[in-house]
Amino acid sequence: MNNKDIFSVQDYIAIVTGGMGQLGKQFVKTLAERGARVAIFARHIPEPAQICEVFPECCKRIIAISVDITKKKSIQDGLDVVLKKWGTPHVLINNAGLDTQPSAPPEVSGPFENFPEEVFREVVEVNLVGTFLACQVVGAAMAKEGRGSIINIGSIYGMLSPVQDIYAYKAEKTGIPFVKPVAYCASKSGIYNLTRYLATYWASKGVRVNTLTPSGVWRSTQDPEFQANYCARIPIRRMAREDEFNGAIIFLASQASSYMTGSNLVIDGGWTAW
Ligand SMILES: NC(=O)c1ccc[n+]([C@@H]2O[C@H](COP(=O)([O-])OP(=O)(O)OC[C@H]3O[C@@H](n4cnc5c(N)ncnc54)[C@H](O)[C@@H]3O)[C@@H](O)[C@H]2O)c1
Repeated sequence: MNNKDIFSVQDYIAIVTGGMGQLGKQFVKTLAERGARVAIFARHIPEPAQICEVFPECCKRIIAISVDITKKKSIQDGLDVVLKKWGTPHVLINNAGLDTQPSAPPEVSGPFENFPEEVFREVVEVNLVGTFLACQVVGAAMAKEGRGSIINIGSIYGMLSPVQDIYAYKAEKTGIPFVKPVAYCASKSGIYNLTRYLATYWASKGVRVNTLTPSGVWRSTQDPEFQANYCARIPIRRMAREDEFNGAIIFLASQASSYMTGSNLVIDGGWTAW
């Protein structure tokens, strides 16, 4: 391959789960703008006209398919649509996930001792079981084809325990404590060894599997106290912009990362360096 083309994703076929969410939209856009055909797997899919509103430059290369990643049959049905329309995917981004924001009600953000078992199971079901199922269904098709790149989206809170002090302002402000829940952290943690397991399992089949680990992304709806406390913990002193993972997505999706598998690419403004 010409050295100039190593980052090319032209004509690739990609699946992005949760592709209408904050980061998912970025991943879809950055792939489609570079000539990839992208299938969004989402529980609530937009009308084709809405896809063109969200992705005006590249909507002709994007389709949205109704898929619940916690259901294997739903993923298989989604993949069948992609296979029939375009062929075997080159890229799978396991991005769909459930998190608990500081605005969450106290029933789902209280102390560990009372954290509801059903909520723990629900979050693990989406973040870990859903990723497992998407790897199983889509990864199997990639292995059969003898090529593919799976990008699992982790989180710094899957690598390290959350800094609970960041959320202490909630109790001071409202009298109700917010504890960043264990479910998100435990479920994201599982992603790292699922990645390593599959990287070795499928290495001989040409399927690479890596994790991309973001830290917190700025949103206009976040409390200013949360943003200030969070930024104070980051060496770069600001939260990530939602487009700051796109370069890593193109790197991991393309031949630029052809010798990389089982790895964890951490993009966190230096959070884990301290
Ligand atoms: N935003 C951040 O600050 C941040 C930081 C670190 C890691 N992450 C990770 O990045 C990924 C994307 O985060 P985001 O902030 O864009 O989230 P988001 O909530 O904006 O988007 C997630 C999407 O996943 C979809 N989804 C949830 N359950 C699903 C299911 N069962 N089947 C199909 N789709 C489902 C949702 O509908 C939503 O569109 C997540 O895995 C998240 O844990 C985000």
